Amino acid sequence: MLQDVDRILVSHEQVQSKIQELGAQISKDYAGKDLVLVGILKGAALFTSDLFRAITIPCELDFMRISSYGASTKSTGVHRVLLDLDYTLEGRHVLIAEDIVDTGLTIKFLREYLAQRSPASLRVAALLDKPSRRKVDVQVDYRGFEIPDYFVVGNGLDFAEKYRNLRDICVLKPEVYNK
Ligand code: IMP
Ligand code: MG
Repeated sequence: MLQDVDRILVSHEQVQSKIQELGAQISKDYAGKDLVLVGILKGAALFTSDLFRAITIPCELDFMRISSYGASTKSTGVHRVLLDLDYTLEGRHVLIAEDIVDTGLTIKFLREYLAQRSPASLRVAALLDKPSRRKVDVQVDYRGFEIPDYFVVGNGLDFAEKYRNLRDICVLKPEVYNK
């Protein structure tokens, strides 16, 4: 895998220490509240697990999966729910865990979709944020790292389903996705 990456952008250690900070902040903000952490598969599976472990207050865990890019690096803006939640969200505090916010279209869709279930609150935690790529204005409440416009892989993030198990978050060589 390493031959396909240019360089490490965010190391595993940096990710882990940032997630501890986010978990501590979230534990403080939601103390005494009925919190559900909703991970977005598959990209955020690793971030969600680490964040869940870093949250020290009672918290439930659920997952959603929505349709993604396929083997491309561009968002289609069309979303389909492939796996929905087990829990009712009515009156509960919902925190979405996403791997990266790029155009913002996925988070916009998810916010609208989940808001229909009448949660008490709805916020977003994203490990990575590429604000320069935004097409729609969305709020990211807990942010790990703001990054420039590079296509990155690792720590759950993929290109065509590969590289998710790379330990660090790495910049993919453009020749890999321009092939
Ligand atoms: P958005 O709808 O454009 O904000 O895209 C969000 C989704 O696109 C993320 O959940 C990722 O699955 C994917 N994505 C965006 N940028 C990258 C990247 O640099 N590497 C891997 N996946 C990405
Ligand atoms: Mg994703």
